[in-house]
Amino acid sequence: MTAQPPARVVIAPSILAADSGRLREEVASVTEAGADWLHFDIMDGHFVPNISFGPQVLAALRPHSALPFDVHLMITPTDPFVAAFAEAGADHILIHPEAGPHPHRTLQLIRSLGKKAGVVLNPGTPIESIAWLLDLADIILVMSVNPGFGGQKFLSSQLPKIAVLRRMIDGAARPVALAVDGGITPETATDVLAAGADTLIAGTAVFAAPDRSAAISALRGAATGAALRSDATDPSPES
Ligand code: DX5
Ligand code: ZN
Repeated sequence: MTAQPPARVVIAPSILAADSGRLREEVASVTEAGADWLHFDIMDGHFVPNISFGPQVLAALRPHSALPFDVHLMITPTDPFVAAFAEAGADHILIHPEAGPHPHRTLQLIRSLGKKAGVVLNPGTPIESIAWLLDLADIILVMSVNPGFGGQKFLSSQLPKIAVLRRMIDGAARPVALAVDGGITPETATDVLAAGADTLIAGTAVFAAPDRSAAISALRGAATGAALRSDATDPSPES
């Protein structure tokens, strides 16, 4: 089953794949290259087997980009750190429902701070876990790798999940972004856009590219291939 891709695909480079010694320049580089959001992977060495950075890095970069900061929290507990990330400059704060016993309360907390709230589904997490969180979510993020590291191989097993979520979101009477994170390349982007995603998180595909502007354009351009696929599967009108 294929969905018609959105008119404009949102591209969010993940700065986990940037040169950590030159983050200010890296942020400027992808901003100039046409990124829509900047994705920050926050890892605690406990919820995921890696450690990245904290709110002070966001705060240091905040003056250097006007793009929305999309903050993916892979930490447990989550609630004690939400306000710090909001104050540091997060525009979107995304949580994993497994990271605490009260994800509904965490989403309420994020929204109470005036930030967009997101829910992230690990590859092994069932869609049902967000059914009663959807009304508090502005973003649903499907992990297409297990979280913790950049540069992993895309899990095509997650494509049917994206398609089901597309239908759930279409049934909600409010805008909700459907993002995919992990192993995104122009090829896998075509698959996830055809399945119904509208937002692509991409680390390696943007930061390791010799021409980041071309890399972002190639990801955005995957919508064309997805649209062709959708047209090909639409039942032809009766003549
Ligand atoms: C993994 C992170 C991803 C990662 C994506 O835990 O959530 O955002 O940085 O990196 P690539 O695009 O290299 O798979
Ligand atoms: Zn991420």
